[in-house]
Parts: sequence; structure tokens; C-alpha cells
Amino acid sequence: MSDRQKTRARPTPRRAFAQSYGAVLEEGLRRRSVLKGFLAAAGAVALAPAMGLRAQAAGSTLNFPELARVRDAHDHWPEGYGRQVLLRWGDGIFPDSPPFDIATLDGKAAERQFGYNNDFTQFLPLPLGDKTSDHGLLVVSHEYATPFLMFPGLTDEDYRAALTDNQIRAIMAALGVSVVEVRKTEGQWTVVKDGIYNRRIHMGTEIGIAGPAAGDDRLKTKADPTGTVVFGTISNCNGGITPWGTMLSGEEGAMDVFAGDYKVLANQDLVERQGWDEDENDIYSVSRVEPRFRFDVEPNEWMRFDWVVEIDPFDPSARPIKRTSLGRMTHEGAQCCVAPDGRVVVFMGDDDDFEYLYRFVTRDPWNPKDRAANKDLLDHGTLSVARFDSDGTMHWIPLTAGQGPLTSDAGFHSQADVVLNTRAAADLVGATPMDAPEGFIVHTGTGKLYVAMTENEDRLPKAEGADAREQVNTANPRGPNPHGHLLELVAPGAPAKPDYAAVSFRWDVFILCGDPAKPEDQAMFHPATTASGWFTDPDNLAVDPAGRLWVTTDGPPPEGIADSVYVMDTEGPGRALPKLFYIAPVGSECCSPTFTPDAASIFLSVQHPGELRMADNEDATSMDDAGTAWPDFTPGMPARPSLVVLSRSDRGVVGS
Ligand code: FEO
Ligand code: CA
Ligand code: CA
Ligand code: CA
Repeated sequence: MSDRQKTRARPTPRRAFAQSYGAVLEEGLRRRSVLKGFLAAAGAVALAPAMGLRAQAAGSTLNFPELARVRDAHDHWPEGYGRQVLLRWGDGIFPDSPPFDIATLDGKAAERQFGYNNDFTQFLPLPLGDKTSDHGLLVVSHEYATPFLMFPGLTDEDYRAALTDNQIRAIMAALGVSVVEVRKTEGQWTVVKDGIYNRRIHMGTEIGIAGPAAGDDRLKTKADPTGTVVFGTISNCNGGITPWGTMLSGEEGAMDVFAGDYKVLANQDLVERQGWDEDENDIYSVSRVEPRFRFDVEPNEWMRFDWVVEIDPFDPSARPIKRTSLGRMTHEGAQCCVAPDGRVVVFMGDDDDFEYLYRFVTRDPWNPKDRAANKDLLDHGTLSVARFDSDGTMHWIPLTAGQGPLTSDAGFHSQADVVLNTRAAADLVGATPMDAPEGFIVHTGTGKLYVAMTENEDRLPKAEGADAREQVNTANPRGPNPHGHLLELVAPGAPAKPDYAAVSFRWDVFILCGDPAKPEDQAMFHPATTASGWFTDPDNLAVDPAGRLWVTTDGPPPEGIADSVYVMDTEGPGRALPKLFYIAPVGSECCSPTFTPDAASIFLSVQHPGELRMADNEDATSMDDAGTAWPDFTPGMPARPSLVVLSRSDRGVVGS
């Protein structure tokens, strides 16, 4: 969800940086190649005035005309590109979809329409694996709803009681996942409404539970005495695509949907560790129409969410499955790679302050020749968590019941205990607490991995007696860290065949976000980065077919900067030199850039437009003071989260 939403209930004063730049460097950055690269680019010989370095000519491979910063009600893209709004919340995706009518919207209509707050987005060519670039499926997740910005007459103060049952049902049906066939004809993308794969998955869809926690007593409810079937998926944030073309959707923050006093539960500690927030619960009033979302009515229902869900977009009749082997946390995404021996490796971030990076390695190799043979591949394997060391190595520590400190005495009798209480298991093995990790991407050309820490205002400087978990560490070197950073991870082995299943990787700081012109920000970008090119709050990452790294932001500083999309090289003279490519309407974040195989089109999800007011950048409280009514700008019509597609007029590679 948006960082604004996450922190609304717990604002933290922005502390002055307590560390000097020298202290940051002492945290292990002195050897970092990013700095070495900058120094080489700048022709400098000494590190001391590092922040005073001035750029020499830098050779980025990106030649599009960079945007100048602007923060307004509209979106902005470079000259020479066409931009279409392809799918808006409420647009029909089936031949029988009713037209979007905000006055009469209910669950029945909403489940035939494109959902709200689209986040993860991936273009999959049809047929799968083909290099076709004008025809494919878009798989899209719909993360959360802001009811008082969706329906007229509601405010942030009164909406919970004021929502009608039909509106609650409409919200429940507008979240989840959409699968939509799309085609480009004569330069224009259109939705293929009678596409045989088109599908909506929502809070009422029947979903299986598999893996170590399937059938566990703690997952049993009155409606499901087997603990193997759950209705719905919630808080579908980012995700990933498996080598066999299924979607993995990360459930991030399902606790917000549950209602009542969790102190009636036996396992209160787990509720608190999972991110309970007194002010952010029952946020859609769903417990009014489905009492299973009340702790006192169904004490186990909440344990059945915050997993990774596997969905087969190529089989509309296939039941989605929650893969409990991948652990329970606030799942951001699930980046899939393949180890040289064919085992599949899934990299995941747990998006909360001081939470961890995880990896899951399948027990068996995947079968490229028989898609069905991979059906249960993700149910068996090893979950691990990352520890970063200051010598530039990092280690993946297994979270396996019976290994190391994960003993029966510690409460880990079985792997079900581990995956149901993943964060506590990771605490015990000494994982490195990160600054709210979100985007995790592999660069398919170099084999390197990039991971984005959005920010962590609560990170503490080093101080005697302070909680070690909350103090700066080698991979999270700034306390507080209001701007976020990017790390680069390198698995051992040749770039063409990295061993993503290896126990140890190398790591490096790639970028420290912030304004390079402000020494107090302690930013580290390529010295040629322009006043429009630097960014903060990195969230989603993508790598295009030409090998450039794309970064979207979630929650920039207020001074005239809107959430945007940036793109940069990761190697060569343009390494870590971002350029501003797209600016989202005020209050929205951009999610999940995805490309056609020819890289001539880029799809972007524009999530929560208007969530901030234009005048003061504070949270909007109703449709009336939303920062924008994008993209319709029609009286009475709310701002609508939408999926846009940009293509170069000459069909060339985007960004080049
Ligand atoms: Fe859903 Fe962590 O963003
Ligand atoms: Ca979001
Ligand atoms: Ca975020
Ligand atoms: Ca995110």
C-alpha cells in the first residue's frame, strides 16, 4: 500500500540526521563499488569531499528527453511518446460487464469490471513464451481501497458507518486480481473483452491452501474445517511470474481488514508482530457483511491471509493456491529466478520497518517441458532469510524447523510453526532488519539482483544502549532513513548462470536516495544526476528488455515532487544515473513497469490518484478534496486508479 497510508496512524517526526557522512562511510561503504564508479566518472582521486564531486560528461544509454519536475493533477510523459489510459477502475473486461455507475455499483457489477488500486502488473505474451509484442495478457493485482475517495458523500471520519452494504460488496469485489487480454492494432492498445482468459479474482473467490501449514488447526474455520480452503485474497500488492507462467501475488497487510478486539485471541503476540494497528482495522467494514472477519466470530480467519497466492492466468478454471511454504508476512512481491540446476528461487521482501529479505528455493527443479508437472513445485523447499555482513558478503540462513535455534523448545515443532510465525523465526536466526524492503528484481542481462528499501524514519543512529535491531547496520546505513536506498546483490557464478540458490552472495550499496544538493540527505547518485533525476522512496523495480533498471517511487518529499518513474543503466558510465521518465498525478504512486518483448510499449499502474490534496500535500479526506479527478475529470466521477501504456511513436525501444 502507499507509505502515506501505512504511516497515517503513526506519524513519526523527521529527525535530523545524527550521523556524519564519514560515519556512513565507516558503516562499510568505503569499499563500495558505486562510490568507486562515481569517483572514476568524476576523475577524482580522493574520497574526502565525496559529496562535492561534480559530474564529468556521463554516457547514459538513455536518450529520451528527460522531464522537468512538476506536481499537478495530471500525468506527464516524454515527447515522442504516445500515452493511452488502457484500463480504469470500473472498466468492463467481459462482454457482459455493466457500465461503470458509481451510484449503483455493487458486488455483482464490480466483479465484472477492472478492480481498484492496480499494483503488480505484468505483460505476458500470447502464446506464453512467444516473442509477440502486440498481443498478450495483463495480470494485475488490486491492492487496497480508500472508500471515501471512491464514493461521493463519504469522509475519512464517517465512512465506516456510512458505507452501504452494496458499497462494501463492491469494494470486496474490486480488490484481488484481474487477468485481461489486450491487443495492439494500428498503434492502439485495446482490451479484448471476449478473451477466453479474462478473469477476476476477489475477496469471495475460492482459494486453496497448500504447503506446510495446510490443514493446520490454526487455519481451520467453521466454513473450512479442513484448513485447506479460504475465500478470497486480500491486500494483493506486488508479485512475480514463475518460469511456467503463473502469477505469484503477495498479500501485504491483510490485518487492516479484520475487526474487533484481537485480545480475545490466544495468539495475541502474533497479531502484534504481524502489524496490528489500532487505527487501521476494519478499514472497509467488511465484517458487517461477512462476520468471519471479526476476531470474536472466527478466531482463525486472519491467519489465512498474508501469504503468497499462485494464480494460473492461462487456466481460468484453475483454483488459486496460497503457498504457505513461502512464509507469512506483509508480502510485497515474489521475484522468481532459476538456479543452474533448475531449482526455482523466489526472492521476497517483507514490507515493514525493520523486517527482512527472504528467499525460497524449491526442493526440485522445474520442468520446462511439462507445465503441469510444476503444479505443486512451490510446496516443497527451503525458506531462508538474509543476513548482511560488513565485509560485503551476505548469507541466506535457513528457516527450517529443528535447525539452529528453531527448536521445539523455542516453539518451532514443525515447519508449520515456522511459516505461521515467519518473522519470529527470522528474529531468532539473526537476520538483518531492513528499511521496509519492497521492489526485488533480477537483471536478466548481468544476473545481478536489485532490492529497494523504501524508507524507515524510525531507524536509529548507532548509540550505546539503544535497541540493536533498530540501529543502523551495514546494509541500512542511515538512521533515520527518510529517503530509502537500493542494494545490489550478486550471486556467485558466471553472469549468464548465477547460482541464486547459493548460501552466500556479495552485496553492495547501489544508491542512497535523497537530494544530492542537500548534504543532510547524504544521498549517493551518479554525480551527473540532474535536479529532476534524483528520487526518494523507491518501491517497485523492473528491468526492460534492453537491460535498463526502472524505479517507481511511493511517497516523495512534499516540495513540488510527485511520485514518478525513473530509469537508469546499471553498468558502464551511466551506472546509477537516473532520468525522470513519467510523472504521476498528485497523490498517486506508479507501480510495476512491464514491457512488451520488443520494448516498444511500457505498461504502468497508476495507484491511488488524488490520495493527497493538491494545496498542502496532506491526506485527502473525501472525493471533494482529492488532489485530482484523473483521468476522467468529469463532474461526479471520482479519480480512478488506471493502467496506462506508453509507446514510442516510431515503435523504438522505450527510453532509448
Ligand atoms: Fe503494497 Fe509495500 O506496497
Ligand atoms: Ca501502493
Ligand atoms: Ca510502498
Ligand atoms: Ca509497493
